[in-house]
Amino acid sequence: MLSWKEFTDYAAELQLKEEYVAQNKPFFEKIDPAFFDRIFQGDTFDPEEIRKAFPGEEYRRFMLVMAVAGWPQMVAHYKKMNFTQQMLEDIKPDLGLWLDKFMADCGIAGLDMRIYGWTKALRKGSILQFGRLQCNYDHAFYGKVACFRDADGTVRLEPCEEHNSKALFSFGDPAINLHIPAAGPLKRELCIDSLRKIVRFFAEYRPDFDYKAVVCYSWILDPVFTQIMKSTNLADFQRLGHIFRMEGVDETNEIVWRVFDIPNGTPADIDKRPHNTGMRKAVAGYLKEGGRFCEHGMVILRDELENLLK
Ligand SMILES: CC(C)(COP(=O)(O)OP(=O)(O)OC[C@H]1O[C@@H](n2cnc3c(N)ncnc32)[C@H](O)[C@@H]1OP(=O)(O)O)[C@@H](O)C(=O)NCCC(=O)NCCS
Repeated sequence: MLSWKEFTDYAAELQLKEEYVAQNKPFFEKIDPAFFDRIFQGDTFDPEEIRKAFPGEEYRRFMLVMAVAGWPQMVAHYKKMNFTQQMLEDIKPDLGLWLDKFMADCGIAGLDMRIYGWTKALRKGSILQFGRLQCNYDHAFYGKVACFRDADGTVRLEPCEEHNSKALFSFGDPAINLHIPAAGPLKRELCIDSLRKIVRFFAEYRPDFDYKAVVCYSWILDPVFTQIMKSTNLADFQRLGHIFRMEGVDETNEIVWRVFDIPNGTPADIDKRPHNTGMRKAVAGYLKEGGRFCEHGMVILRDELENLLK
């Protein structure tokens, strides 16, 4: 197991706030090194074993220590892959952003299990960051739509259940999958700049990856946001590509968490937080009328990128 000195050094590299590090010291000293090494070195672990060892919310602190301990592996992987120092700099703040989120949720500078999995993906280079946006190193599209182009050039999305070889792009095709870290306003120009960098990266490092589109799946793609909020960055983001509905993927409770910082919450909980931002006000009004949100996806076909990025 790493020492406290290593933990604080790595946390500094990862730009974690000193208060987040300091509040974890008493917990750090309680960890059994043999237990830590067994869990950290294993490919998988049993979440229940960790929850049992660290009852209540304390398991989150353990997940944080594991995430920070992975820093040298991440540096080594970037070196091995010849990834640039800038890529490492871009992705470093991600862990701190998640800690901000969990502080807002439950007052603990720690991680939940799901987000620990995410940090492992960052460590292994499966998720990369280029400026404002992140993307997968590899991805097969799982949206149930097939894209066609009509004679007049209009792109048409049709539902499909499996890969459609007649389509320009459909379920199962290779794609660049975007993620949006909670790194402040999602300005269109930052997204375009980021997309440019992503396209350059794939040309240089992954010429073998014959992606047919850039895609995204998210709660932020629900077109209802353009109706309930006036001019927003979300609306601009949605206009980058073609939006489709992920049938059956209800995002209402996810949005209660993402927007009101209430983990495992439902619309009945939203008055527990102040309605103090434009999005909180708009979402609260919509939910109070019985509205629901659905996950949506976005597709930007590869041949549309040149025009978008010029
Ligand atoms: C996606 C995200 C960057 C959009 O933020 P944005 O660019 O500020 O969004 P908009 O311009 O559309 O929103 C404007 C208003 O809503 C507020 N707002 C935006 N996202 C908010 C959120 N998640 N919770 C509460 N309020 C939010 C803004 O503060 C602003 O309020 P104001 O009008 O009072 O100043 C932001 O929601 C975020 O960081 N989300 C967390 C990451 C995430 O969910 N990524 C997608 C994963 S699938």
